[in-house]
Amino acid sequence: MITVIGNLKGGSGKSTVTFNLALWLMRHGKTVVTYDLDPQCTLSDVAHVRAEEKHQPVLKVYTRYVKPHFKEVVEEYETLIDVGAANMEAMRRAIGLADRVIIPVSPSQADIWSTQRFLLIIAGEARSDKKPPEVSAFINRADTHVIVRESDQAEEALRTLPGIHVLNMRLCTRTIYRRSFSEGLAVSEIEPSGKAAKEFEIFARHFYPEIQ
Ligand SMILES: Nc1ncnc2c1ncn2[C@@H]1O[C@H](COP(=O)(O)OP(=O)(O)O)[C@@H](O)[C@H]1O
Ligand SMILES: [Mg+2]
Repeated sequence: MITVIGNLKGGSGKSTVTFNLALWLMRHGKTVVTYDLDPQCTLSDVAHVRAEEKHQPVLKVYTRYVKPHFKEVVEEYETLIDVGAANMEAMRRAIGLADRVIIPVSPSQADIWSTQRFLLIIAGEARSDKKPPEVSAFINRADTHVIVRESDQAEEALRTLPGIHVLNMRLCTRTIYRRSFSEGLAVSEIEPSGKAAKEFEIFARHFYPEIQ
């Protein structure tokens, strides 16, 4: 299956989700190939840290952001593609191939607007010979304080957008995600029973209900 983790907005959590999801899938016995098509190369950088620290399993990342070849797209593999607005050609190609698009959205009005525009780009890639990708969005970096209502408002606004499935769960702002990048470890590897790992587990299971 080919999953694009995309959004026009930088900093919404694309690389965070791609990295943690890839390691979650590998832990559940899947063969995973990732593509880092963002010139920021965050996913490649974190995979590099992971390799330097000799953490297992090794995360395979292709960085072909100029002209992506999608060499290893094999049916039985889980292909995760991390792509943002900095590389529109790659984004369009990736969406054209995708079975599914996951959109992390930060809780702000600007992020809702950019998600709306991103949906138009996805619709623009529709082809008569291929089923359109299933599109899901969710709030990432949700506030952890109940009195702050920004995430509720953003989620409500997301639900008014056409053609997307909005997850009934959020990934909250957790400092462990920063440690995760600097150590090259998934949040579930750093603190397996921590809040971030538990939230991420529910998130991943939503997309892969067939995995035991
Ligand atoms: N749920 C979260 N809680 C705390 N920090 C987060 C969360 N999601 C992402 N971040 C942090 O925000 C920054 C941007 O995330 P990143 O995944 O690189 O975004 P993108 O790939 O969309 O540009 C990174 O420093 C990352 O650690
Ligand atoms: Mg990124």
